[in-house]
Amino acid sequence: MKRLFGLSVALALMPLAQAADPEAGRVKVATVCAACHGAAGVSVSDAIPNLAAQRAGYLVTQLKALKDGTRKNAIMNAIAAQLSAEDMANVAAYFAAQPGAQAGARSGLLPNVALTRVNFPEGYKDTFTRYHTINFPATKQVRYYFANKVAAQAARDGKPLPDGSVLFAEVHAAKLDAQKNPVSGADGFYVVEKLLFYTAMATGAGWGSEIPDMLRNGSWNYAVFTTDKQRRAGVNQAECLACHKPLDKESYVFTLKQLAGAK
Ligand code: HEC
Ligand code: HEC
Repeated sequence: MKRLFGLSVALALMPLAQAADPEAGRVKVATVCAACHGAAGVSVSDAIPNLAAQRAGYLVTQLKALKDGTRKNAIMNAIAAQLSAEDMANVAAYFAAQPGAQAGARSGLLPNVALTRVNFPEGYKDTFTRYHTINFPATKQVRYYFANKVAAQAARDGKPLPDGSVLFAEVHAAKLDAQKNPVSGADGFYVVEKLLFYTAMATGAGWGSEIPDMLRNGSWNYAVFTTDKQRRAGVNQAECLACHKPLDKESYVFTLKQLAGAK
């Protein structure tokens, strides 16, 4: 009995012990990881590490830690959670085989993942529900959250947010006192000094169809708007998608409960 058990464990582990498949790794990297780390492991921004020529063993160890949560990073925890042990071995073998990055080199964004259809919601102050406020002590900012009628009604009814939903936030710098600490009003929220930018997410029929499943948030697209209501250039939508991805049971919305409770 004991022997049989040992044998079945050995059999179950066997596929993992097989040689990694860098070609399968290349395909996964090209569709998903490339959005941030570049197709050959040279990343798209200073905040994202190059993986080209990194040792395979180190990459697998990091991916395991990111999957089980012992290494914390909201974006990579969401990505690693979707990788099998085999995927990890394959992508690690692929990255390890790439030539190291030239100093200062950067990859471009993946066009199909960066594409967004969200437009500035003109007139939101008159037609949207303002449903929530959050202070951000670390950045000394306060955010005001707005939702259009379609989104607010669905949330109130406990239904998934349908196509046509728009969620929108004004991001303000807080007014600071002489010690450079945010000044709070009688309601406990920071007093607004000035508008910095806006963030938005919206759904539309078929939106997201060109986004790979590991990043796709149903039919949500994301955008950041400058104070003159223009889409901010260079936003990597992959980051928005990855971080909101684990909230699939909440229509990908962090503040869904607050929206459902809004009058
Ligand atoms: C939305 C952007 C994004 C995508 C897509 C993405 N990553 Fe990452 N990745 C990051 C960021 C940001 C970090 C840095 C995390 C940190 O600071 O701890 C990172 C870190 C890592 C690390 C740790 C590197 C180190 O030096 O310790 C590995 C390994 C990794 N990613 C692998 C992958 C693989 C494999 C994929 C595709 C399946 C992938 N990533 C997709 C953004 C992304
Ligand atoms: C590191 C994780 C992370 C990333 C990356 C991220 N978000 Fe979010 N997002 C959050 C969290 C947490 C909240 C809840 C409240 C808050 O922090 O504003 C949120 C809230 C929002 C909301 C209000 C609706 C909701 O889900 O509660 C919008 C709109 C939004 N994010 C847009 C974006 C856009 C656009 C991007 C990409 C430019 C983005 N987010 C990237 C974590 C993230």
